[in-house]
Amino acid sequence: MIEIEIEPARASDRRAIETLLQANGLPTAGFELALGTAVVAHEGGRVVGCAAVEPYGSAGLLRSVCVDPGHRGSGLGRRLVERAEAVAAARGIADLFPLTETAADWFSRLGYQPDRRESAPGPLRTSPEFTGACPVSAALLSKRLSREALAR
Ligand SMILES: CC(C)(COP(=O)(O)OP(=O)(O)OC[C@H]1O[C@@H](n2cnc3c(N)ncnc32)[C@H](O)[C@@H]1OP(=O)(O)O)[C@@H](O)C(=O)NCCC(=O)NCCS
Repeated sequence: MIEIEIEPARASDRRAIETLLQANGLPTAGFELALGTAVVAHEGGRVVGCAAVEPYGSAGLLRSVCVDPGHRGSGLGRRLVERAEAVAAARGIADLFPLTETAADWFSRLGYQPDRRESAPGPLRTSPEFTGACPVSAALLSKRLSREALAR
């Protein structure tokens, strides 16, 4: 079996990441704002998962969390979020906010709590996902990052 490695995304991964996001119904608008903090799961050189954080000061939009359908259910999504949390914590981000139409229950299992869109920090609300790419029905969740995230 080929091992799956999670690594920081490189500029050369961008096209494959955007293809994965589009194939799974996730927005790509504004992804360039998160490329510097994105992580990717590679299996034999192929991108099979990703997660990214759009930084807004001490807050971050956790976005583009996606696992190839053939690789779901084995903890890869959780590992990607944990790596994204570690990247965010290392950059001084204290709070992460995912905005999702379909995976609120999944994020809850990772320690994220439902939040009100209006209570998101102002700069975060200027994100392309907030202003257009995600419908108003998308749920906002939040999580305060712990010291463990920094230690990962
Ligand atoms: C959400 C997603 C990233 C999970 O990836 P994954 O690698 O399967 O996640 P994990 O293996 O860590 O977790 C799997 C568990 O979560 C559950 N789960 C998966 N997606 C779920 C969802 N949308 N809502 C609730 N639970 C979900 C599975 O049933 C499984 O439960 P089990 O452990 O009791 O069997 C993946 O389903 C995906 O890419 N979905 C499409 C894109 C998306 O909605 N992204 C989130 C918004 S940015």
